[in-house]
Amino acid sequence: MPASQPIKATRGVRDIPPSDWAGPWRIVIGQATESAENYGNQAIETPVIEPAELVERGVGESTDIVTKEMFRFQDRGERWLVLRPEFTAGVVRAYFETGLNQGPQPARLYSVGPSFRAERPQAGRYRQFYQFNVEAIGDPSPALDAELIEMAWNWLGGLGLGEVSLQVNSVGDAKCRPAYRQALLDYFRPLKAQLSHDSQTRLEVNPLRVLDSKEDQRFVEAAPRITDHLCEDCKAAFDEVRRLLDQAQIPHTVNPRIVRGLDYYTRTAFEIHHQLIGGAQNALCGGGRYDGLAEELGWPATPGVGFAAGLDRIVSALSSEGIEVIAPPAAEVIVVPDGYQPEAAAVVGRFCRQALPTWVDYSDRSLRAKMRTAGKLGARWAAIFNADEAARQVVQLRDLNAGEQREMPWDDLPAALVQAP
Ligand code: HAM
Repeated sequence: MPASQPIKATRGVRDIPPSDWAGPWRIVIGQATESAENYGNQAIETPVIEPAELVERGVGESTDIVTKEMFRFQDRGERWLVLRPEFTAGVVRAYFETGLNQGPQPARLYSVGPSFRAERPQAGRYRQFYQFNVEAIGDPSPALDAELIEMAWNWLGGLGLGEVSLQVNSVGDAKCRPAYRQALLDYFRPLKAQLSHDSQTRLEVNPLRVLDSKEDQRFVEAAPRITDHLCEDCKAAFDEVRRLLDQAQIPHTVNPRIVRGLDYYTRTAFEIHHQLIGGAQNALCGGGRYDGLAEELGWPATPGVGFAAGLDRIVSALSSEGIEVIAPPAAEVIVVPDGYQPEAAAVVGRFCRQALPTWVDYSDRSLRAKMRTAGKLGARWAAIFNADEAARQVVQLRDLNAGEQREMPWDDLPAALVQAP
């Protein structure tokens, strides 16, 4: 039988090798977690699979995510499920289902994990990508919107990113949006024949979506601006968010074209972009308020606000700014028996591991080959022994950085490794 082709990963997904995961990814996720917890957020895990209806109603039937990009399938009981394309709808569902709505308000929650969108793959756009997601559910204060933006901004700054810019907008609420929607219809309808195919379909379902169109920029430029149509309450909330951002010295511009690709937003909407990474895929982070979402999902009306950051893009932004994060070695100590000595090697490994992460070489390769592996691993210490030394329960402990070596009884290894400068 002919050998089959080697099986490769499916389209639009990728592996994150240990040098990347233990390097920039670890730092980005570590600092995300740290800043979330610094603001009193707690981690929440929600399922990767959710009922399709949750996302369809939450994110919105007319959005690209729901119409074109969902991994949607039937389970064995023929229920329709999706791989989550984002966290927010699931986290709001979990807020009620786990009783967080009965606890202190707002519930401040963060998550890190994969989301899935069947988009056309290109640089910065993957079908499985990773988000750092933060939500504050149960409090309508615009101060929370500003606090979340501050957290996102400071986290990105703390990573060393300089080429970032923040754009904010208010998309209004159930009171002022209908009139704005009508103003958009009045403006776009006479131009309909000249709009792109996508915009023509979007126009009647949700005219705000037309503002997202890249192809119709020349018409979008002159379209009515939401910021001129806000009701008093929305205007006051937006002013407060901006005042608080000024007070926190966070530079921002108002961009009335930011409507976001998801339908649940009310009032504040914001995005943080990176100047150096690719074209349309340069949004590192996006979010806003969604005071109507809980009710849309059939739960009691509850305000909420949050954001999600795309970790894949943040890692690539770091490298585009020349910020290199070298992964630490897999282990600090490598146990190197001369010849095949699995029992002694395992025992020595256990001693060393009391002090430092330890890699044991069980192979029967030559000592030279094993020492080359030690060098490649980047371990600082090698615990080397032959059969005679194993019988005496000692090793030659070599400091690979200094090139020094001394004999050491097994028992003394933990203390020696801990105390080494
Ligand atoms: P989003 O703007 O759809 O918002 O996604 C947030 C971030 O995820 C984007 O700014 C981008 O960095 C990243 N991202 C999105 N799609 C992809 C992709 N295909 N490949 C790589 N990265 C991607 C949300 O998801 C909302 N749930 C945010 C939110 C939370 N709003 C309120 N709470």
